[in-house]
Amino acid sequence: MTVKQDKNFDNLSVRFRKNIYSTAKGRIRLNILWRDLLENIPNIEQGGLDILDAGAGQGHFSLMLAEKNHHLTLSDISGEMLEQARSLFSEQRPNSDVRFIHASVQNLDKHIDKTYHLVLFHAVLEWLAEPEKTLKEMLQFIKPGGYLSLMFYSRTGLIYQNLIRGNFSYVLNDTLSGKGKTLTPTNPQNPDDVYAWLKKENLNVITKSGVRVFYDGIHRERRKDINEDELFELERRFSRIEPYCSLARYIHVLCQKIE
Ligand SMILES: C[S@@+](CC[C@H](N)C(=O)[O-])C[C@H]1O[C@@H](n2cnc3c(N)ncnc32)[C@H](O)[C@@H]1O
Repeated sequence: MTVKQDKNFDNLSVRFRKNIYSTAKGRIRLNILWRDLLENIPNIEQGGLDILDAGAGQGHFSLMLAEKNHHLTLSDISGEMLEQARSLFSEQRPNSDVRFIHASVQNLDKHIDKTYHLVLFHAVLEWLAEPEKTLKEMLQFIKPGGYLSLMFYSRTGLIYQNLIRGNFSYVLNDTLSGKGKTLTPTNPQNPDDVYAWLKKENLNVITKSGVRVFYDGIHRERRKDINEDELFELERRFSRIEPYCSLARYIHVLCQKIE
């Protein structure tokens, strides 16, 4: 199915906060992303880096970066999501060095005339009509030698989850993509396509991790009494090991722009 337009989250913001960041799903995401950055980006712990969070949504991951005193720019096509990011920052980190830009990634060059040490593009690719083209446009904002933290919803993981749940008709009829009314992405990405785009653009992959490699397979009732420390430890442990990594809901790829 062809995706006609990028998904503005104005009508999904309440559901997004409730279903993702109020649950272990969001906490696993933050945990893996943070581990990957901490292990690979010099000075991420010390602060002082210029960081762009494009498609920042409600700004949950950027808030963790604000705690380290980085200089942040958050942008999103959705005014509602960005308003919630603003509230989160004013409640929890009122003195952060943060700028909010209400604009699509495609229009960011009208607002930004600098480059960044690190650009975040988390869970946006799978909502775009032209993911490869838009990703390419993003790269102009990364300094030579700077980093891209890219997390995308994997089509491989989506097929696997539907198979093990017995949702055969979705797989047989290839009706796996969402229609834009729920949190099922409209354009799940084939990991091999994304890796090929990165290679074409001279981005050097430093690390690759699966996000939610097994959590979604745990029965809802069983999730209620799970020990989260153990959950995070095991998600971290299997996130970089095959075949677990490739079957995860999301893949996080940290890359460096070759100078
Ligand atoms: C699933 S949310 C992810 C939010 C955040 N990055 C996170 O990981 O929590 C996807 C976000 O991308 C935004 N978005 C979609 N298309 C966009 C575009 N072309 N430019 C900027 N933001 C876009 C949506 O409005 C939404 O806030």
